Amino acid sequence: MPKLKTVQELVASGEGLPERYFYPPTHDGEGQPLNGLVPEMEISAIDLSLIFSSSDEGQKELSKLHSALSTWGIVQVMNNGVTEALLDKVYAQTKQFFAFPTEEKEKYAREIGGYQGYGNDTIFSNDQALDWMDRLHLRTYPEDLRELKFWPEIPTGFRETLHEYTMKLKIIREQLFKGMARSLKLEENCFLEMCGENSIMETRFNMYPPCPRPDKVIAHRPHTDGSAFTLLLPDKNVEGLQFLKDGNWYKAPIIPDTILVTVGDVLQIMSNGVYKSPVHRVVSNREKERISVATFCFPHAEQVIQPVEGLVSEARPRLYKTIKNYAEIYFKYYHQGGRPLEAVLI
Ligand code: SIN
Ligand code: FE2
Repeated sequence: MPKLKTVQELVASGEGLPERYFYPPTHDGEGQPLNGLVPEMEISAIDLSLIFSSSDEGQKELSKLHSALSTWGIVQVMNNGVTEALLDKVYAQTKQFFAFPTEEKEKYAREIGGYQGYGNDTIFSNDQALDWMDRLHLRTYPEDLRELKFWPEIPTGFRETLHEYTMKLKIIREQLFKGMARSLKLEENCFLEMCGENSIMETRFNMYPPCPRPDKVIAHRPHTDGSAFTLLLPDKNVEGLQFLKDGNWYKAPIIPDTILVTVGDVLQIMSNGVYKSPVHRVVSNREKERISVATFCFPHAEQVIQPVEGLVSEARPRLYKTIKNYAEIYFKYYHQGGRPLEAVLI
């Protein structure tokens, strides 16, 4: 297959818009135009510094967490130990990386059959509609599984910033796994243990260039995340992220310098469906480029994942099979716009 131009290259080339970027409106939100008006959703916030407090305040945060993750599957995490200055730096350096000429970015290009590195949407079949998105995808944790050849040395300090950010996110990840277990009245280490010691984190830097046909082209197709959960740094100026609830799309408000947590399929499985892995998408924007940085918290591939015992009962029968290496199942469905979770239902 000939190498496809990245979306940024395509825009710079001045060529027309290839048809394979036209998204068939056959999946979620059928009949709803891509650039139609959608209502704004509210995103609840929890104070991470309070969730381990034994006071009433702590209980209040845990019940907010429960309510957010069992309805929308998304929550904003305040007081999380990451400074605004660091979030700013991650955002600014991501923007700078994508602003470099192609030849510079290509030094970190994804290899055939691989997924780490710089590139555009991965092509799995000839009739697949492509996302209007370029990305840089890196495994960031554990440190000995990093493949530094894909880690950009441009702009200066990018690697150091990513390391610093990862180490902060690792702490948040642990607190969240414990907090989530507590909010479900489970033993606090149950999710951490099921995902395995030193489980995997991967960060994907997303760049959505301005798009001439936001009515036809999707920036990021509707999907659920295949992670346990995702720590998202959304663009601080440009909207585009939307969530599907009860058959309707809602746009996420712009909240500058924040970390949003979205439930992924693995947590939906572990929580026996109590916490919801939301379908979300990104719509394209005619005038502005958009950046986001998504960090996926995955279990180790060899870990056995299944609904935790405490959430299975006669009243709430077990919904999901026992699985290993969910990523493999996930990608089989993802590129067809399917819902991978359906494949692991009992
Ligand atoms: C994603 O779903 O991974 C991207 C979200 C975003 O760009 O805000
Ligand atoms: Fe996502």
